[in-house]
Amino acid sequence: MKKKIAVLTGAGVSAESGFATFRDSGGLWEKYNVNDVASIEGWYRNRKLVLDFYNGLREQLKAASPNAAHYAIASLEKDYDVCVITQNVDNLHERAGSTNIIHLHGELTKVRPEHGIYDDTGSEREVIDVGYDKVVLGDKAPNGVQLRPHIVFFGEVVPKIEAAIDVVSEADIFLIVGSSLQVYPAAGLYRYARPDAPIYIIDPKDVPVHDFRVTLIKDVATKGMEKFIKEL
Ligand code: OAD
Repeated sequence: MKKKIAVLTGAGVSAESGFATFRDSGGLWEKYNVNDVASIEGWYRNRKLVLDFYNGLREQLKAASPNAAHYAIASLEKDYDVCVITQNVDNLHERAGSTNIIHLHGELTKVRPEHGIYDDTGSEREVIDVGYDKVVLGDKAPNGVQLRPHIVFFGEVVPKIEAAIDVVSEADIFLIVGSSLQVYPAAGLYRYARPDAPIYIIDPKDVPVHDFRVTLIKDVATKGMEKFIKEL
């Protein structure tokens, strides 16, 4: 049986594909107010502003490509049973060939009715793939209500966290790439790693995780993944 690797990724894995991270200097949350564009209150205050913000990111995603770190993570599937748990809403892991992905914070290329018939947290039955198209005020779901980004806004539950906890708790190795680990519940996932499972963190900065199991590979994602694969 193949060993299991759980990989948690954050904005840093997509940085070398040209995406700004959120909390680094020059990051998205310096340019935009997170409460305006990425919270449930912000959505109800100004839907147009939120739709425009995600339309912009969708446009940027269309032009972006996976980088060597996304490909290296996908290549682990040759020898390991891999699940990628990503906080990223881009589709660069899919495009690099990863086949088992949990999108904890939603997906940029998808939308859903702001009030679902089945479930307001994003029942897969009501999710619509819009690819890289713009979504504007007045674009409605089949149930007649406004479409919203299929994104987990601040202030909303993270429906896939339980699936992610299961994956981490069963993994032989836990790898974290490019996340500041500031946002819960994703930031707490490492606590579910098995006591004997090594934890690797790839990040150019020190990430404040105080756990004896952690090995920090202090580098950018592309170079860090090369080092990680050599360690395996
Ligand atoms: P952050 O912006 O908080 O953290 C990015 C991390 O990537 C930092 O630790 C950086 O040091 C690191 N980094 C920067 N460049 C890198 C590179 N080339 N290679 C590897 N690492 C690099 O982003 P996240 O931790 O992903 O949520 O943020 C978590 C959540 O907060 C996001 O999913 C988003 C945000 O608000 C929502 O919008 C719901």
